Amino acid sequence: MAQALARRGAAERVICLSRQQLDVSQPEAVATIADLRPDLVVNAAAFTDVDRCEDAEQRAYAVNALGARHAALGAQAAGAALIQVSTDYVFDGAKGQPYVEDDPTHPLSVYGASKLAGEIEARHHCTRAFIARTAWLFGHGADNFVRRLLARAKDQSQLKIVRSQVGSPTFCDDLADAILALGRTEAYGTYHLVNEGYCARDVFARTILRLGGAAGVEVEGVDHFPARAVRPGYAPLFNRAAARLGILLPHWEDALTRYLAAPEPA
Ligand SMILES: NC(=O)c1ccc[n+]([C@@H]2O[C@H](COP(=O)([O-])OP(=O)(O)OC[C@H]3O[C@@H](n4cnc5c(N)ncnc54)[C@H](OP(=O)(O)O)[C@@H]3O)[C@@H](O)[C@H]2O)c1
Repeated sequence: MAQALARRGAAERVICLSRQQLDVSQPEAVATIADLRPDLVVNAAAFTDVDRCEDAEQRAYAVNALGARHAALGAQAAGAALIQVSTDYVFDGAKGQPYVEDDPTHPLSVYGASKLAGEIEARHHCTRAFIARTAWLFGHGADNFVRRLLARAKDQSQLKIVRSQVGSPTFCDDLADAILALGRTEAYGTYHLVNEGYCARDVFARTILRLGGAAGVEVEGVDHFPARAVRPGYAPLFNRAAARLGILLPHWEDALTRYLAAPEPA
């Protein structure tokens, strides 16, 4: 996701730091961020392996919660705004309708709980904080579901994909544009930033195969998805707050078409 921000924000002098350059879980991160004198800090660093987080709770909180605190303190010390990137996994999926920003949270996993703690840290330690929740990311230069599925389709003619998960596929380039647009405002608060529309995971898979030139591969929708962490079943996000600012993201099918049409950057 950070790579998309660097590409889309090239005109705005985006500085992207790797974990080796800035470990957000360490207290030194505060001074490292402040010393850069940024106008805006986007904290996209996270321990994102949802299943591994279940058995590595300490690390999950160190990166996803304490890391958000350090990013917020660094932004605050620099007089900068902060955009803390968060997730649909702060919800439990029980609502039965797309989630808006002020819906009650109830994470089902360590990952979701640690990211929710990160939201709280960000709001608490930075007066100019945005929370940007997103979901089901795909983008250039990063491992993602679209890429993995098309790789599997090369040597399998039938794929089993869960149909009981419904969410909001989101193209990192569109998310990056929305984050940069949000950062130009002073409308601090919580935002959902996903491509428009939503779908079940098996529908997403069929669309990927169709648009990705592998329409001959069959997708069987299954209800059970064996995994260590519990995921919300029905957790599409609705960008209500961003729409009020005129920040609109295209439909996910349009986004997927653009993603698949563009070659991976060298
Ligand atoms: N992917 C999704 O579908 C999705 C959905 C909802 C929300 N999000 C959120 O979107 C953001 C970006 O996600 P992503 O999918 O782009 O994640 P990603 O590909 O896993 O990237 C996360 C980045 O954080 C870095 N990182 C890990 N621990 C760090 C630390 N202690 N200090 C500094 N950097 C550290 C990782 O570096 P290493 O590779 O060196 O470990 C990696 O570059 C995250 O906040 C995530 O929670 C993602």
